[in-house]
Amino acid sequence: MNQQHMNSKEGPIGVFDSGYGGLTILENFRKTLPGYDYLYLGDNARAPYGNRSFDLVYEFTRQAVMYLFEQGCSLVILACNTASAKALRSIQQIDLPQLDPSLRVLGVLRPTVEALGSLTKTRHVGLVGTPGTILSGSYPIEIHKLFPDIVLTGEACPMWVPLVENGEYDSDGAAFFVKKSLKNLFDKDKDIDTLVLGCTHYPLLLPQIRRFVPRDVRVISQGEYVAESLKGYLSRHPEMKQHCTTGGTCTFLTTESESKFEESASMFVKRTIKAKHVRLG
Ligand code: DGL
Repeated sequence: MNQQHMNSKEGPIGVFDSGYGGLTILENFRKTLPGYDYLYLGDNARAPYGNRSFDLVYEFTRQAVMYLFEQGCSLVILACNTASAKALRSIQQIDLPQLDPSLRVLGVLRPTVEALGSLTKTRHVGLVGTPGTILSGSYPIEIHKLFPDIVLTGEACPMWVPLVENGEYDSDGAAFFVKKSLKNLFDKDKDIDTLVLGCTHYPLLLPQIRRFVPRDVRVISQGEYVAESLKGYLSRHPEMKQHCTTGGTCTFLTTESESKFEESASMFVKRTIKAKHVRLG
């Protein structure tokens, strides 16, 4: 990668997800920080990432981040738990030091974890996510850095992302798989009072999830916490803020077909959007 290309310039905030789930985060960014320009990239052609190996998730995410940097982004948010859990650390530690030191990549785990400390009373927290996120062990590592007293119990839900990606989030099939995974989770720990939706696709399953979660359990969608965290980050880092343009626009890129993205994205974003096809790798 030519370092000259990377040198900090003004541009939109990059938002990356394997597919459509990151749109739930982007919508919160637009609500909390409406003035900025955003460039969303969905690697829909290679999604889902949830069952993929560490090496592949890292390689695909790295390609996406480099692409967003080339488009002028100085700040990229991995709006994907799987990519945040499996690729963020390597990108921060291996790739960024070789590029322009003013470029930044942030993930969704840390802001979610930071919010937990004041939300759980029993100190028993449940986590649902893709197999990649759960098996990576990244959530327990992050949680125990900040709150060593929290007991975290995770449940991998391999069927949930495919159900959402295929528009089946409201179906009886979705109810079956949501009920099954949540039963497994609450059977493992009955003291859970806070459930983290550790996948950016899961907010679409929220009505189903609420049906099968004990009434007194608080369900945490990440979007608002990640958006508040980005707001705080930008106010603490004026040097980054000045690289982020403020036209209030939102541009959508996908590695799949434009028409498919435009149609499916409407499940996540309740307005008509235009997408542009791009190739990664
Ligand atoms: N949206 C991604 C996440 O937050 C998962 C989707 C996938 O499996 O690719 O983990």
